[in-house]
Amino acid sequence: MAGAFDPDLFGHTAEQVALRLRRHLADPSVRGLDLVEPDALAKTARELMTTERDRVAGFDEGRLHRILDLYIGTGIQVHSPGYMGRQFSGVVPLAAVVDLVSSVVNQPSSFYEAAQLPSVAERVMADELNRYVGFDPDRFAMVTTSGGSLANLTALLAARNHAFPGIWTRGAAQEAGRPAIAVGAEAHYSVVRAAGVLGIGEDQVVRLPADRRGRIRADRAGAVLDDARRRGLNVFCLVASAGTTSMGAFDPLAELAAVTRPRGIWLHVDGAHGASLLLSARHRHRLRGLDQADSLTWDAHKMLFVPSPCTLLFYRDAATAAGAFRQRASYVFDDEPDVYSALDSGDRTLECTKRPMIMPLWTLWAMYGPALFARKIDHLCATARLAHRMLRAEPGFAVLHQPEANILCFRYSPPGLDPAHLHRLQLAIRDRVRADGRLFISKVDIDGVAALRLVVMNHRTDASHLALLIAETRAAGRRALREAGLPTPGAPPETPDAAPTP
Ligand SMILES: Cc1ncc(COP(=O)(O)O)c(C=O)c1O
Repeated sequence: MAGAFDPDLFGHTAEQVALRLRRHLADPSVRGLDLVEPDALAKTARELMTTERDRVAGFDEGRLHRILDLYIGTGIQVHSPGYMGRQFSGVVPLAAVVDLVSSVVNQPSSFYEAAQLPSVAERVMADELNRYVGFDPDRFAMVTTSGGSLANLTALLAARNHAFPGIWTRGAAQEAGRPAIAVGAEAHYSVVRAAGVLGIGEDQVVRLPADRRGRIRADRAGAVLDDARRRGLNVFCLVASAGTTSMGAFDPLAELAAVTRPRGIWLHVDGAHGASLLLSARHRHRLRGLDQADSLTWDAHKMLFVPSPCTLLFYRDAATAAGAFRQRASYVFDDEPDVYSALDSGDRTLECTKRPMIMPLWTLWAMYGPALFARKIDHLCATARLAHRMLRAEPGFAVLHQPEANILCFRYSPPGLDPAHLHRLQLAIRDRVRADGRLFISKVDIDGVAALRLVVMNHRTDASHLALLIAETRAAGRRALREAGLPTPGAPPETPDAAPTP
C-alpha cells in the first residue's frame, strides 16, 4: 500500500500527466465533443478497473494512461476554438497548476487555521474585485462558494433572514405575509430552485415583465411589486441578471435599484456570467448601478478562466452576510474571535469543507494583473459581435439579438417554416453539429422555439471558425430539411418523377 503514497511515484506520474496535458493544450485541431454512448463508455470504464479485489493491486502505468486519455478525450474540448457552446471556460493553464497544488496540500478553506494563505487571498481578492463592484470598502463582505447556484441560494437566505429576523428561529409558519421573491423572465433556474429550497414555493415567485431580449422592464416592475403586495405577498428580494444565461442580456440595475430601495426590497444581482465584464473598461457600463445592489453572484469559473467551481458572493453590508446562517457550533465557531478566526468564513457559507478555490484566481491576478482578464473578455465580446455581423449577412439565417456580451442566439431559418418545424430543425442542427465533433454549440428556447446558442469562450475562436460554423449549420440544416421531405432553400425543387433529360 505504501506504493500508492510514494512521493517518487507522484513525481513521475505528475510529469507524465503534465506532458500529456501539454500535448492536449498544444493540439491546434478544431474539435468540439466526441459524444460517446454511455453504456459503451461505462463498459470501457469497467474494463479499465483492476480485477484485484482482495489485495491492493500493483501500479499499472499503462492503465493510468488509458484512464487519462479517456478522461481527456471524452470532454467538451474547452481549449479548442471549436468550443462555442457553454459558459465554463478553457482555463489559463497556470490556474490548473495551482489547482493541482490545492489537491496535494489539501487546505479546506472555511477556517483560517486550515487554509491560511487561501483565507488571506480571499480578503485580498475581495478588496481587489470590490474596486470594480463599487461597494463601500469598509462595509462590504465577500465569501467564496462552490458555484453560482449555491451563491444565489446563500444570498436569498441572507435576504430572507434580513427581511424576516425571526424566521431562522421560529420558522416560516410564524411569519406574517407570504415570503416571496421577484425575478425576470430569464432568471437562471438556480434562482427559482433556491426559492424551492427555502420553502418559498413557486407560487410566491413573482415574474416581472420583460422586453424582447428578456431584460426586466424597470418601468413596469414597481406596479407588479405593488400588486403582489396587495395580494398578500411579502416580496423581500428582487433578483436581477447581469448576463442572462440564454442571451447574455443585462437587466437595468440602476433603474431596478430605484424600484427596490423605496420598497425596502433586497436587490440581488446574479452576475454569474456577466459580472466579469466589470474588468473591461469597454464593457463595464453594462453593470451600471451595481453599487446600489445588496448582493452579487460572480462566477470566476466562467469569464475569469479558472477551473470550476470558483464563485464569489459579494454583500454590500457585512452584517447582512453574517445573517445568512445563525448557528453556534463550538467545535468550529469561537465565541471570542481572535485575529486568526476573524478570517474564518465558515459562518457565512453552506459549506464547511470547501475547496480553496480562490488560489488559482489570486495567483493569476498576482502574476499577470487584471489586464489579462480585461483583454480576453474584450476579445470574446468582439468575436461575438463579429459573429453577429457575419450571420446577419448570411441568407437563410435569423439573428435574434445584438450580443451584449459573448452570447449570441440565432436560427437557421429558411422562409416558410412554421414554428414547430423551425423548432425541430434547430434541434436537428444542434445534434448534427455536435455529432460531427468539430464544433460545439448549444441551444436554448426563445419564445418557445429553439434557437442555436453561441457562447464565445475561447480566445482562439476567430472569423475562420465562425465561417466554419455557418457552413456546418447550413449543411446540417439542409440535410435535416431534405430528410424531413421539406424544400431546401437555394436548391432546385426535387422532381423525382421528371423524365430524364436527353
Ligand atoms: C446567470 C447564471 N446564474 C447562475 C448560474 C449557475 O452557476 P453555476 O453553474 O456556477 O452553479 C449560471 C450558470 O450558467 C448562470 O448562467
